[in-house]
Amino acid sequence: MAEVILENVVKSYGSTLAVNRVSLTIKDGEFVTLVGPSGCGKTTTLNMIAGLIELTSGNIKIGNKIVNDLDPKDRDIAMVFQNYALYPHKTVYQNLEFPLRMRGVDKDKRHAQVMRAAEILGITALLDRKPRQLSGGQQQRVAVGRALVRDPAVFLMDEPLSNLDAKLRVHMRAELKHLQGELGATVVYVTHDQLEAMTMSDKVAIMNHGVLQQYGTPDEVFHKPANTFVAGFMGSPPMNLLSTMIEYVDGDPVLVGDGALRFRPKTPKIKAALQNAPSRRVILGIRHTAIPIVQNGAADDSADSVPAEIYTVEPTGDVTFVHVKVGEHLLVSSTNDLRFTGRIGDQVGLAFDESHIHLFDTETTHTLLN
Ligand SMILES: Nc1ncnc2c1ncn2[C@@H]1O[C@H](COP(=O)(O)OP(=O)(O)O)[C@@H](O)[C@H]1O
Ligand SMILES: [Mg+2]
Repeated sequence: MAEVILENVVKSYGSTLAVNRVSLTIKDGEFVTLVGPSGCGKTTTLNMIAGLIELTSGNIKIGNKIVNDLDPKDRDIAMVFQNYALYPHKTVYQNLEFPLRMRGVDKDKRHAQVMRAAEILGITALLDRKPRQLSGGQQQRVAVGRALVRDPAVFLMDEPLSNLDAKLRVHMRAELKHLQGELGATVVYVTHDQLEAMTMSDKVAIMNHGVLQQYGTPDEVFHKPANTFVAGFMGSPPMNLLSTMIEYVDGDPVLVGDGALRFRPKTPKIKAALQNAPSRRVILGIRHTAIPIVQNGAADDSADSVPAEIYTVEPTGDVTFVHVKVGEHLLVSSTNDLRFTGRIGDQVGLAFDESHIHLFDTETTHTLLN
């Protein structure tokens, strides 16, 4: 296995910057996911690592060697595509064997490697079938198996689970992660699905418009988003992002939004961030879990709660999402209380959990914390 390094990688198509100065270090044995909305440059980045697309500028290193000008076959990588790209007229066995044949591996050794990959992936019983006789999940395993037999330095995977139904996707997610851990494989994985990125990866690289927004562990990007794009992209439902103004009451900063939205921070860290903010307009970010509904209609004795009106209620079984309006702000809160009886139009109170709030600069969208 090997380390992969991208240094200021650029790909332009005419005036379109598909990938704009992306720098990343993927350590040996790491599972790194490139995630972002459609068109953000994920596939282009992966294909440049694979050697399927030429760089406009920058460097790509695999195992400390610059590979910019190497053919894909000389890069010691194996790819798994969204559509699996299996040979339809070959059996599963022949599909698995093909990359080994191409490399001139002798027959006995080919057989041993094919059987081993088939065993790891649990497809031994399918070796005589043709791809069209397989389910989507089975085809996906064969595609992974074909990458596996090559024993590459790096696995590159482009949305390999996107064609599977939701249940199978969750299952294969766990299987792929388990397999990667067992093999200690270096994997660069592409998905538009933030949950897939969060659940599978050692590190997540979040991209938007060809630009790397943040690179960190799932925990870092979720709990310390670098900007409003990351805050809104990672997590579902997305983080509430509220436009507010800093006002001062008795010398202390208070965030004032629309309607009755007022939030007076108590912790020195938050106060300092507001006092040092470059502009009086800041974006208050808070996830649904950190604005619990604290009272239901009854008179409020918690002075800090913000009055809100229920907009809609979405029970999902174990958690109920409660969308509420505070003035013009539409926020989502949640409750694990299975007996929650709130209805559209009910007046409720929201508590802001100060230890979980985020602040972003309105102009730059960058975090004001850290
Ligand atoms: N061959 C191409 N010619 C022109 N533009 C391209 C080409 N390939 C990709 N693009 C553009 O580059 C951007 C990134 O595309 P892509 O890497 O496929 O995004 P993603 O995989 O994140 O959905 C998009 O705006 C896309 O339209
Ligand atoms: Mg793509």
